[in-house]
Amino acid sequence: MKNFEYFNPVKISFGRGSVNSLGGFLKSEYSKVMLITGGGSVHKNGSYEKVMKNLAKREVVEFSGVEANPDFDTLMKAVELARKEKPDLLLALGGGSVIDGTKFIAGAVFFEEDDPWNILRKGLRIKSALPIVTVLTLPATGSEVNDGAVISRRKTEEKMVFKSPLVFPEFSIIDPDFTVTLPRRQLVNGIIDSFVHVCEQYLTVNTDAPLQYALSESILKTLVERSENILREPPDLDARGMLMWCSSNALNRYIGTGVVQDWTTHMIGHELTALAGMDHAATLAVLLPGVLKYKINEKLEMLVRYAGNVWGISGSDPLETVMQGIEATEKFFSELGAGVTLSEVAVDCSIIDRIVERFEKRRIILGENSDIYPEDVRKILESRCGK
Ligand code: NZQ
Ligand code: ZN
Repeated sequence: MKNFEYFNPVKISFGRGSVNSLGGFLKSEYSKVMLITGGGSVHKNGSYEKVMKNLAKREVVEFSGVEANPDFDTLMKAVELARKEKPDLLLALGGGSVIDGTKFIAGAVFFEEDDPWNILRKGLRIKSALPIVTVLTLPATGSEVNDGAVISRRKTEEKMVFKSPLVFPEFSIIDPDFTVTLPRRQLVNGIIDSFVHVCEQYLTVNTDAPLQYALSESILKTLVERSENILREPPDLDARGMLMWCSSNALNRYIGTGVVQDWTTHMIGHELTALAGMDHAATLAVLLPGVLKYKINEKLEMLVRYAGNVWGISGSDPLETVMQGIEATEKFFSELGAGVTLSEVAVDCSIIDRIVERFEKRRIILGENSDIYPEDVRKILESRCGK
């Protein structure tokens, strides 16, 4: 196992009705709260009303309209508002996009020495941030328990990641009641995003970290075994809660300790979202099987373990076993209703040239062995064109 440091200060209140612990948690010095929401789902799932009730004795400034794949220009409007109103706390109410957007706002408010886009583009560090509390309504990204955010810029068709320990939420409410209104598409996204987060930390090279591998397999198996219940209508709130806890555990960085990670699927996926507007998880369903097949030899040992422990597939020929494991993954995504080729998601393969060109320009090399060059990205994408 590799050496590591692990830090995660996020306090969590989990379960039905846990939103009622919000008021009690908020420090008394947080007298002015800026509530940040998305496009209006919070008014349908009951969360807005309950959060406002918990904020009753505080001054509330609202910013709504953070879109899926939060846009830099929208967030800068919120930054302006926060600079003017000077809230003590940012409260994110929504899915990963609202939470990520809030993390960016929290840091950008104090970032006046340079263009805040350079927090993303050049990886400039934020030196301070407003405190954040989150109330999650869509289990998928794990943003409620981590220090990362992904921000899009429609004007330049870019999508970039930043990380800072200053944007860990202080507290996150994970209340399954708010998932009742989630459409099937977002539930499927949540299952797939969580699944792929685990895979990108687990399916690399063996660093002899059996505890992390067993935890990873448990998350994957729970997602597979409970997917039907998670998607059930009328909603099975125990199963929805299980998805919430799986997605948090998939990216609270715990299973990523002591192992080698490979975020190739995500990095290529962000380009598909930036250029073709695909949902984040939809990009992952197309790409993950392609990345695993392309690096089958390098990942062989862990893929054999994955095929056996997650899918119950074993045999005397490791390559054949592993291929069956990858095919089972693809079938799982398909049966959930996700497209697994570019043609299935109606994206033309002419997009590949633009993506490769971007990776060349940015000199990006991917993979746990730093051996996925832009030309390899081309081959991975070409293998996913479909008919
Ligand atoms: O905008 P509203 O009206 O709230 O509607 C949203 C949005 O349209 C809706 N929604 C959310 N909760 C709902 C609901 N609809 C009905 N009932 C509810 N309870 O769902 C739509 C999608 O929401 P969004 O927040 O965009 O989805 P998700 O949570 O999947 O977040 C995706 C974003 O997170 C980033 C992605 O790249 C993408 O930008 N990620 C963030 C990560 C992180 N911070 O660690 C890691 C991930 O890999 C990912 O990259
Ligand atoms: Zn993801």
